[in-house]
Amino acid sequence: MSLTSSTVRTTFLPFARPDLDERELDAVREVLESGWLTTGSKASQFEARFAEAVGAKHAIAVSSCTAAMHLALEAIGLRAGDEVITTPYTFAATAEVIRYFDAKPVFVDIDAATLNIDPRAIAAAITERTRAIIPVHIGGLAADLNEIHSAISGRDIVMIEDAAHAFPATYRGRPIGSLSDFTCFSFYATKSITTGEGGMICTASDAHAERCRMMSLHGLSKSAWNRYTSSGSWQYDVIAPGFKYNMTDIAAAIGLVQLEKAEAMQQRREVVASSYDAAFSAIDALECPRRARNDVHAWHLYTLRLHLDRLAIARDQFIEELRRRNIGTSVHFIPLHLHRYYEETYGFRPDDFPVALCEYQREISLPIYSRMSAEEVDSVISAVTEIELINRA
Ligand SMILES: Cc1ncc(COP(=O)(O)O)c(C=O)c1O
Repeated sequence: MSLTSSTVRTTFLPFARPDLDERELDAVREVLESGWLTTGSKASQFEARFAEAVGAKHAIAVSSCTAAMHLALEAIGLRAGDEVITTPYTFAATAEVIRYFDAKPVFVDIDAATLNIDPRAIAAAITERTRAIIPVHIGGLAADLNEIHSAISGRDIVMIEDAAHAFPATYRGRPIGSLSDFTCFSFYATKSITTGEGGMICTASDAHAERCRMMSLHGLSKSAWNRYTSSGSWQYDVIAPGFKYNMTDIAAAIGLVQLEKAEAMQQRREVVASSYDAAFSAIDALECPRRARNDVHAWHLYTLRLHLDRLAIARDQFIEELRRRNIGTSVHFIPLHLHRYYEETYGFRPDDFPVALCEYQREISLPIYSRMSAEEVDSVISAVTEIELINRA
């Protein structure tokens, strides 16, 4: 079908775009001119301000959320053969960090309404080998942490939140970052605040914080990071074979500016989400993402879902039609049990997690970011509504 010129954008609207301006450029320039590029005072400042923003006792800046989750599992002493409960409806990172230890990811299906782990299904997945649970706040909608806590209560199971999508988000009025043993954030390029690549571990435990910090920098003794400063010492001791997961001051300087802008950026995404909701909620074949009643939704993703039985085309064709109209989209997520590694390692079949499978097959993530103009939002709305209208079953 040829497209009418009124409905087609002349330029491609990317699925994601970071919100960076002169302030980040100035902050990076300042670090470059200072001569101190790696972990230093900017990283410390970023940690302090982030901890304050989420109400965490400790925040440790690292190179990614993947690193953050790896360090959290290392800090609890995860061992080969242990089990960690998580959701298949997530990115590779959430489960690969479990495999780093030769431990077993135990997938629990999701709740179709939220796309988050289904708390009612957790109890059946617990065994005497379960050491931890990693819920994921998909798209920035907090998982039901109270229900998850109830499901694991009385057991020695550590909660590590994968909050890659969830800054700034709240759960029952409290910020994500202050509610579990560990909360791990991502500052990847597409995330709600970015440092290019980066992550943060939040924890209330002094011992866990110290272990994560040490292991994030080769397992070197405390304060080794400042061994090249006037106040530092050339001496250090290797306490354990750690990792190279520290955050640079270049990244942290960007993070400090992004943190200042975080609330305004979230508010803008909230407006985009509300515009989408207003346009799509009355359309039969479309299902808008669940909102966070009385809570802040980070709106990292806008997870639109299609009622495929009311459409003459499948999800992939819907995406193709959006692409033809110059709208970038994505799909969150291809459930992990469908991927070759997990299928071959654990013998999973697609319908082992039927809710994850079904939701994946009908999900489309629409562009949602603070730099979207009103015209760009309108162009997405026009394209989606037009494709739905033309392709009604
Ligand atoms: C749910 C989830 N967890 C973890 C990660 C990993 O984050 P990072 O790229 O900072 O390691 C991602 C990245 O997209 C993610 O979507």
